[in-house]
This record gives sequence, C-alpha cells and structure tokens, in this order.
Amino acid sequence: MTLKHIILDTDPGVDDALAFLLAFGSPELTVEAVTTVAGNVSHEKGHRNAKQLLEFLGRTDVPVCGGAVRPLVRQLRHAEEVHGETGLGGASLPEPKMKSDNRSAVQVIHQKTDELGKELTLVAVGPLTNIAAAVVGDPELPSKVNGLVIMGGAFNLTPYGHGNVSAVAEFNVWHDPDAAKIVFNSSIPMVCAGLDTTTHPDYRLSVEMFKEIEALGTRRSQLIIDLCRGIVERFNGFSLHDPMAVAYLVDPTIFKTRRCRVDVETCGELTKGMTVVERRHHRIVEEEANAEVIVEVDAKRFHRLIMDRVARG
Ligand code: RIB
Ligand code: CA
Repeated sequence: MTLKHIILDTDPGVDDALAFLLAFGSPELTVEAVTTVAGNVSHEKGHRNAKQLLEFLGRTDVPVCGGAVRPLVRQLRHAEEVHGETGLGGASLPEPKMKSDNRSAVQVIHQKTDELGKELTLVAVGPLTNIAAAVVGDPELPSKVNGLVIMGGAFNLTPYGHGNVSAVAEFNVWHDPDAAKIVFNSSIPMVCAGLDTTTHPDYRLSVEMFKEIEALGTRRSQLIIDLCRGIVERFNGFSLHDPMAVAYLVDPTIFKTRRCRVDVETCGELTKGMTVVERRHHRIVEEEANAEVIVEVDAKRFHRLIMDRVARG
C-alpha cells in the first residue's frame, strides 16, 4: 500500500469534521498538516474547530496552520445557518489547549511541497483561498506536487450538478471565485468532488445509516450524531461533501471521473462562482482538460468506507 501524504485545507464545518474522521481513520493517508481557511464560519472559529477535532482524535502531533481570514477579493460571508454558530453543529468539544503552528498555511504548503514533491497531494474541502495564494507564491507548485483533490464545484454532469448556494454555484467556489479561477487555471492536476455526486440521493448518508451510527453508542458515534443531527433532520439525510474528496484519495477505484475543461465565473450577476464546463468540442475537452470530475460512485463501497472509517474508526 502506497502511503499518501496530504495537507488537509479546511473550513470546519460539520462535513469537514467527518472528513477529518475519515482522513485520520485511513491508514492509506498520512496528514502532514491541517491548514484552515475562512468559509463555513469565520477563520477564528474554523481554526479553533480544527484544533478541537485533532484533540478529540488524539492527534495534536499534527501541525495546524492558520490561513486566509477572508476571500481574495470578495467580502467575507459564512454558512452558520447550516453549520451552526460554532461551525460544528450541535457538538460541544472542550476549548482546545493545543497551540497553532507558527507557520502560515501558505508557508507549510510551500515547505511540504519542497520536502515531499510528488509524494504530496493537497486536499481542499473549503474555499480555495489558501491554495490560490500558495500557487501565486510559487508558480512551480502545480508541477511539483502530485495534485489537488477538492470538494467543490457544480458541473452539471449529473441531474444533481446544480448549485447549492445559488442556482449554479457551489459554496466553496462561490465563497472565493477569484481564488477558484486561479487554481483551475494553474495547471495543477485536479480531481473534483462536486455537488453532481455529493448531493446524489444514492450517495448521501441516509436517515437509516444515521440511525445505524447512533446505535453504535460510542464516543465517536456520539460526536457524529451531535455534529450531524440538525442537518440530517432538516435535509432528510446528509450530503457527504468533504468526506467524498478524502475518500477519493483513500480508494480512487470507488469513483468514476470524467476529464473536463473547467473555468470559473467571477463576475456574473446570476452566475458568480459557477464552474463552467466546456462541452462544445470533444477535441477541445481532451486537449485542454484541466480537471477530472467525479461523475459516478460505487455507493456500496463508499458507504462501507464511511461506516468503517468514519463511524467505527
Ligand atoms: O458546498 C459544500 C461545501 O461547502 C462543503 O465543503 C461544506 O463544508 C461547505 O464548506
Ligand atoms: Ca468544507
């Protein structure tokens, strides 16, 4: 088994928390650092949440590096109406004691890139502000690393590929479309877990699965219940957005992807944050594809991974 070294860039975030449980519950991955970015909640809250999750997991050995407190250009917004005032739903974890690493998100991304090169994969499950800043700071980064896996985008490649924060935009891209545009045009090898599959009814966490997790009656399962109950009750299940990005790295054979040429709308009144897929000519797509978008998931194997690695741990 090849060990995959990752940096987890995150805006915790309820589904980000499940992505933590999956990443640290998977022996295929070693998390070199956690970098935080403003998104679901303020950077201050998200950074605190990241530390709380690492303390819950007993992994205070992993450096937590602070990142962007706002998007590159746009005004700061948040999604507390979904993730709750703390950003971790109904979960209440103790105030963290661990210290932040003194490197910034960009500094640790650059350092680990130079140390690990093609052994390193960046995993971004929040707005792409830190990734864009890292790319601007080191234009060679895209060719130095193995690649970037994101939860982000809505590509209209399945009937569920519409937006969530608007008719056409997915939250992470919408929150910082200028950063997303830089990243999609940086030539970094990209795999995208978009709303096309994360909101697909066959791939979501069902109410029945949620009840199965509740019945486990462990400290870990209780955290998941506290994190997710509000969303599960409100949305009749739970879209496994961020865990899907991590799951791709754990076992890519669970997923089918399609090579696409993608760009990001940064100005449109109705379309800001839209991930626009070039469809006009097969040749253009093949020659100028800049991303692989997940279009199908082996639901049975994906859910087994979630139950084994997230719920049971
Ligand atoms: O659109 C879903 C994404 O936005 C997820 O990463 C969720 O955590 C929020 O950040
Ligand atoms: Ca997130």
